[in-house]
This record gives sequence, structure tokens and C-alpha cells, in this order.
Amino acid sequence: MCGIVGYVGSPEENQNYYALDVVLEGLRRLEYRGYDSAGVAVVDGDGITYAKKAGKVAALESELAKGVFPQSKVGIGHTRWATHGGPSDVNAHPHVVDHGRLAVVHNGIIENFAELKHELSALGYNFVSDTDTEVAATLLGHIYNEVQDLTEAMRQAANRLEGAFTLLAIHPEQPDRIVAARRNSPLVIGLGEKENFLGSDVSGFIEFTKKAVEMPNDHLVVLTADSYEIRDFAGNPATGKEFEVAWDAAAAEKGGYASFMEKEINDQPAAVRDTLLGRLNEKGKLTLDELRIDESLLRSIDKIIVVACGTAAYAGQVARYAIEHWCRIPTEVELAHEFRYRDPIITEKTLVVALSQSGETMDTIMAVRHAREQGAKVIAICNTIGSTIPRESDACLYTYAGPEIAVASTKAFLAQITAAYLLGLYLAQLRGNKFADEVQLILDELRAMPEKIASLLERSEEIAQLGRDMKDASSVLFLGRHVGFPVALEGALKLKEIAYLHAEGFAAGELKHGPIALVEEGQPVFVIVPSPRGRNSLHAKVVSTIQEIRARGAVTIVIAEEGDTAVEAYANHIIRIPQTPTLLQPLVATVPLQIFACAVAGAKGYDIDQPRNLAKSVTVE
Ligand code: G6P
Repeated sequence: MCGIVGYVGSPEENQNYYALDVVLEGLRRLEYRGYDSAGVAVVDGDGITYAKKAGKVAALESELAKGVFPQSKVGIGHTRWATHGGPSDVNAHPHVVDHGRLAVVHNGIIENFAELKHELSALGYNFVSDTDTEVAATLLGHIYNEVQDLTEAMRQAANRLEGAFTLLAIHPEQPDRIVAARRNSPLVIGLGEKENFLGSDVSGFIEFTKKAVEMPNDHLVVLTADSYEIRDFAGNPATGKEFEVAWDAAAAEKGGYASFMEKEINDQPAAVRDTLLGRLNEKGKLTLDELRIDESLLRSIDKIIVVACGTAAYAGQVARYAIEHWCRIPTEVELAHEFRYRDPIITEKTLVVALSQSGETMDTIMAVRHAREQGAKVIAICNTIGSTIPRESDACLYTYAGPEIAVASTKAFLAQITAAYLLGLYLAQLRGNKFADEVQLILDELRAMPEKIASLLERSEEIAQLGRDMKDASSVLFLGRHVGFPVALEGALKLKEIAYLHAEGFAAGELKHGPIALVEEGQPVFVIVPSPRGRNSLHAKVVSTIQEIRARGAVTIVIAEEGDTAVEAYANHIIRIPQTPTLLQPLVATVPLQIFACAVAGAKGYDIDQPRNLAKSVTVE
């Protein structure tokens, strides 16, 4: 939800690049956070030069190509996901106020903007855009003119603003710096040699440095070429935690694939493998060192609530089956945005597990805060080191999927399931529900998954062809049972997100209670079939479901294990997946659904990585 970049280089240094180059590079990498408009502003002598344009970063670049932009060493940039005011040039950031001398970019929502706008209008200020950002910028400019110092002005302005914001500001009267403030919106500092950076996340500067600093919430930072100074909103000095970025810039490139989503689908064997790495000690015992929560407390947990949104919530639904089965702890999964409003029953014995790829989803952050306020312990499962959710949780189990750029989540989903399974096994081991040898057996099965996923990926083309052939379908249904049910929901979500195709996932058992009325001649229906080797009753029931819909004219696309001959008579198409214990089946069964959605969207000519109306990281409630 909006990407922000800032750069301060040293005028004496002979780097052969300028603020514009750094900002544009960062914006390209942060574009997944929003692509309604893009803009850049730099300090230029005693003024500001800026450019902004509705549309993607490429539209801004075409605009910039028409003229000459100053070779400044101090600049800020923004890529937008529109909230207040539509996606237009005038609503694009930066917002430049104070007679062209103060440029501001913003990520978040200023909740009291109407009240502030009223107040500032009464003082004679005019507004040209519909944005809350212009109000914040005007307030900042107003205070600046009183105090004549950008840092103090930012501090005072931050104290007046309600809601969520990361604000970056530059002013030619203090030309060596960017002053930034953050409350409930992300911001990371990047440290270079005689140059420093700001980004909504590390991809904003990954090309230039891997040294980063977590920016604490409710703080501001003054960034110059050779220093960064953090203060709280009362003005007291503070510090942020320094860390090394584990990704390299290449991990955030397409690597020869036509889209990031295709690349990320193909990254999945590594995402699962890396998430499993290093989590066993030499005795074969599962050790999750990151879980710095008192073991006796974890033993006393009597309820688990998983909170998440979107794809991560489906990963939570999958994990619930495994955690309850292994640990015998009642486990609920709740959409993070519904969680606190239903007044959930939480005690000190409740463990809340927050699943999030980005670690910045505002709904999930609010759920974490609510859970902790009520006395629960919170464990995050997250893919982004240094992001807000891990920082605000009691402990974090990181997934190691690497940067996920495509808006529609793929490899993070598989990595989240893997990490949540590790947590389930760890709790089972700790609480004595499972002996080390049983844990070892499941871990061996988990360790075999990357290879199974890789073997499935070899058949991508066959699945993609099916997608291209079905591109004109007006609706697609997905059915599954047990862990196959959330897989069905995820398959439908992928088609909605990137192919703009009506799709729904149902629990196969629910079909006859209503949804079967949707089935008519030619209706494509995916069915995820559980392993025939495990819970046989479930397998037989799902096969009966296929039979029932086929009899009513459905075109059945059956996802079934190699060797499962029972499905053959009722399948129009069979996608074979490697033999896998049912609980682990989502790690393979989801992959064909991702490839299918990608192929349908590609055949329709849609932008696979940046689907309309969406953003990767939803940092507003
Ligand atoms: C957005 C994205 C989804 C993602 C969800 C949760 O809606 O479009 O792909 O699953 O946010 O994101 P998180 O970063 O918390 O996993």
C-alpha cells in the first residue's frame, strides 16, 4: 500500500548516480505496493524540482524522458495505491507546498484530515488535490514557517496527525537531509558509505546496500549522507535495531521468467526447503530458537487462534488441521479484520499466531495488538525480517521464501504452511503429544516436499495449456475436503485476483447443501482429491462428489495422486500430483492451481504481477 523511497548522497562523493536514479530504482522495486501513480522530488538549489504522473512508474519515466532533471543528491519518491482521491496526476505524490519549497510523500491514512483541512482553510490555505497527504504537507509547511526547522516541524506535525503515516519531507533551506516520521506504516533505513536511504521495505534500496536499520514506530528520523538520528515524537533520542538484509538484489529480479508470479511459483521448492533449514538440532530434535517464549507457558496453552488475511488466512486454515491433530489444542482461524470485533475469548493461555508475508498488513497488526492487550502471547510467522508484525509479537518464526513481488501470493503460502507445521510439531514435541521419532518421521516427509514440488513444476506446461484452453470460462468452481478445502479457496482466490474471473471454493461436502445448483452443462469444476492411502472414507466421498457433478454436466478437472485410478472414470482432465500424506498435500495440490490462474491471466493479456485494484501489502484498515 504505497511505496516510499528516500535518498541522501554526499555532494562531494563521486558516485555516478543521483537521487533520481536511486529513487526510480527503488520505486520500480516497490511498485508492487501500489501502482496508481508515481512521483519524485529533489532538492534543487533554493527550490524543489518534482515530477509526478498517474499510472505506473514507467509512465513517470516517460514523462521524465521529455526533459532534463537536476543532478541532485537529495530526493524522495512515491508509488501510490489510492485511498483519498482517485488515481490522477494531481493526487499523485509528492505534494509540494510552501510556495514550492516543501515536498512530502506519504503512506497511510490521516484519519483527522477533514478537521485539519478545515482548520488550515480557515488560516487561508488552499488545496488542489483530494488527498489527506496534501493536508499533512500543508500542516507541516505551516509549522515549519513558525519554527524554521524541518525536524521540529515534523515532530509537531506528527503529534497533530491521527491515523497511520510514514511521511518523508525535504526542504531546500535544510538541503542536506530528509526528515521522516512513522506511525503504523512501514519504514526502513538503509546505510551506505557517505549515502543513506529510506524505503517502505528493504527492496527500496537493496540494489545499493544490505545494511539496514529498523525504524521504531512513533518515531522520526533525520537522514543525512553520513548520519541518521532517530527521536521519539517527544523529541528524545532513540535507537533502531541494525540488521543485515538476507536477500540479494537478484532474488528480487524475474530471473528469465515472463512474470514475477511465474518465477515465484518456481521458487517454491527452495521456499519450503529454506524454511525447514536449520531447525533441527544434532540430535534430530526440532529446535525453534526464535521462539523465545517460556516453555512452561507454551505447555500451558489451551487455545490457539491464527489471525491472517487473504492467502495467509488460507495457510492458517490448512495449518489448523495439522496443529489440532498433532497437538490436541483447539485451534481457530480468524480473518484478522474480524478478529477483534467479534470480542474473542482470550486469556493468558491463548496463543495467537499471526501469519503474514509482508509483516505490514494493518488488519493483522491490529489483531496482534488486540491479542497482546488481552494478555495472549503472539507468535508471528512472517517473511519480512524487521517488519512490524514480528517486531510487535512476542516471538517470530520466519519463513525463508525470499522476496515475493507479485501481488498474488504463491511461494509465501507454501512457506507459511511449512512454518506453521513446524510450530505445530514443536508444540506437540514440547507438550509430549509426539515423541521425537514421530516428529522425525513427519519432518522427513516434509523434507521430501521440495523435490515433489519440483517434479510437479516439470509439468507446468501441460497445466498452463489447460488454463489457456479455458480462458473464456465465465466461472470456475473449486472443491476440496479437509486440508483440500482451503486449497480450493486459494485456487479460487488466485483466479479472482489475477484473471478477474468469477471463481468460488467450496467444501466438497457442502455442495449438495446448495452450491450444486450452480452446476450446469460445461461448468468447469476443479476437485482436489485426498490421498486414497490415508483417510479412505474421505477419498471415496470426494470421488462420489466428482461423479455427482459430472452427471450434471460439469467439466471436471481432478487433482489426484499418481496411481489413484478411482478418479479416472469421472475426470475430464486429471492433473497428477506426487503421492503425499494428506496433511502435506496442500504443498503440492496448490501448485497446479497457481499455474492455471497464471496461464488464464496471461492468455487474457492481463498484467499478472500487478492486477487491477490490488496491492501486495495492505497497510490500511
Ligand atoms: C493482500 C495481498 C494478498 C495477501 C494478503 C495478506 O491482500 O494481495 O496476496 O495474501 O494481503 O498479506 P500478508 O502480507 O499479511 O501475508
